Amino acid sequence: MSDLKREQRKNEHVEIAMAQSDSTISDFDDIRFVHHSIPNIDLENINLQSQLKDFTLEHPLYINAMTGGSEWTKQINEKLGVIARETGMAMAVGSTHAALRNSKMASSFTVVREMNPQGIIFSNVGADVPVDKAKESVQLLDAQALQVHVNAPQELVMPEGNRTFSTWMDNLSQIVAHVDVPVIVKEVGFGMSKETIKQLNEIGVRYVDVSGRGGTNFVDIENERRAYKDMDYLGLWGQTTVESMLESTDAQQDMDILASGGVRTPLDAVKCLALGASAVGMSRPFLNQVENNGITATLEYVEQFSDHMKKIMTMLNAKDIEDLRHAQMIFSPKLQSWIEQRNLSI
Ligand SMILES: Cc1cc2nc3c(=O)[nH]c(=O)nc-3n(C[C@H](O)[C@H](O)[C@H](O)COP(=O)(O)O)c2cc1C
Repeated sequence: MSDLKREQRKNEHVEIAMAQSDSTISDFDDIRFVHHSIPNIDLENINLQSQLKDFTLEHPLYINAMTGGSEWTKQINEKLGVIARETGMAMAVGSTHAALRNSKMASSFTVVREMNPQGIIFSNVGADVPVDKAKESVQLLDAQALQVHVNAPQELVMPEGNRTFSTWMDNLSQIVAHVDVPVIVKEVGFGMSKETIKQLNEIGVRYVDVSGRGGTNFVDIENERRAYKDMDYLGLWGQTTVESMLESTDAQQDMDILASGGVRTPLDAVKCLALGASAVGMSRPFLNQVENNGITATLEYVEQFSDHMKKIMTMLNAKDIEDLRHAQMIFSPKLQSWIEQRNLSI
């Protein structure tokens, strides 16, 4: 496949993702917090900082992996880099494969580091890259962590996608053993099971991003790119972010679990943290904001989002993220059934 075709694919992903809309039904609505009438804390004392195993996040929200690898996406990365710097959010770049293959593409990723020299940046590769390329991807951005995406459904629906997966687990072990920054194994919108999370823990992975169903949908995106658009029936494949967070419960002692996929409101984000997430990622909302409304409006959006999260935490009497983990939640019968059928110890 030529570099030109790859560049075109990057742009198509962004275009199709921006045109997608969220389903009106969200699994986050299957969780309700119990309201108590008299909080004994003040809004001004709420602290959003999150302590992970290897670093502290000033903000529990992060800009999740999307772009790089073309001229257009370089411009998007530049703007997202500024937003990360101004808000103190961590930011992941999209898959750096384009830069690893062709150094002319490097600047579409490194622009993020240029915009934000002191920030926390995650680099991103796929589960099939050799260890030396994974190391190169970290060096490219002087990254604090490396996201390794696992995206089998996307590859299988993608007309020109990968069809070989049996080497992934061994390769992941190699990457974890030899890359000298934390490795975050990340889904791309299909969620994770407790079995997958346990397998990853066993090979030394200490961070996963469950990136569940409910937001950007890569079966739909790749299906749009198929000549006959014939795989649309797979649109509901995978676990939602809420189900994935429940699946992660047993692993939360040993691992930092990051939540993403369909997080759209401050209440969704607070629910992720209450379910045990150490941080919460969003992709498409930041893309749409920055491309449709610009940097200043996106900064206001983040400020509002944070302010609303603090207000919700005040109602929950949770002064920080640790307190949120004790918030009382009620699950819908649908979620309760998932918990029972999957034997989850919640
Ligand atoms: C345009 C676009 C490109 C993406 N590219 C990548 C990628 O290169 N690597 C990756 O790990 N995830 C990628 N993702 C997936 C996101 O990081 C995230 O897992 C997914 O979009 C769900 O989050 P959302 O519902 O907030 O968009 C991409 C998402 C979008 C919208």
